[in-house]
Amino acid sequence: MLRRRFMVIFTAVFSSMVALLLAIPCVRFLFAPLNRHHKPAEFQRVAPLTSLPEGTPTRITITADRQDAFTHYPKSAIGSVWLRRRHNAAGLDEVDVWQTICPHLGCGIERAADDGFTCRCHASDFDANGQCLSGPSPRGMDKLEVRLTSAEENEQVWVEVRYQQFELGTSLQRAKS
Ligand code: FES
Repeated sequence: MLRRRFMVIFTAVFSSMVALLLAIPCVRFLFAPLNRHHKPAEFQRVAPLTSLPEGTPTRITITADRQDAFTHYPKSAIGSVWLRRRHNAAGLDEVDVWQTICPHLGCGIERAADDGFTCRCHASDFDANGQCLSGPSPRGMDKLEVRLTSAEENEQVWVEVRYQQFELGTSLQRAKS
């Protein structure tokens, strides 16, 4: 009788411990998205400077590792930018970078027949510097932070962009949190 009782208690305690051990990774998995902190975007290389024609905007796809609630997508396309290489007043290379997403409702911005840009969804036109000329867009094209860096290996100059998306349909340039 005593042995049977011991076996019942032992089985109950052992089963509880196993259930607890199995529950820990399950709970951690379920709450993982809550523990993920949004890091601010970092500069990333998007193109060698010499690959950009001078004065003519070039569209470049941005890729990055992406994560939704539970799935990791390595090196997938997350957006695109317009890059325009030009010389500043001192004759040095500079690059302008704009989002390709229209600030109105998010359609893609294309090159226009002249030097500017256009969004065909609701006919917003932008000049060559991204300023809004006409249409419902509440502001000009969103500019992104850019810097030029030299690669240590071969001193090639790279264009690096801090990619981000902006809120649509407002007159303020605010980054999406
Ligand atoms: S989305 Fe571009 S003008 Fe409306």
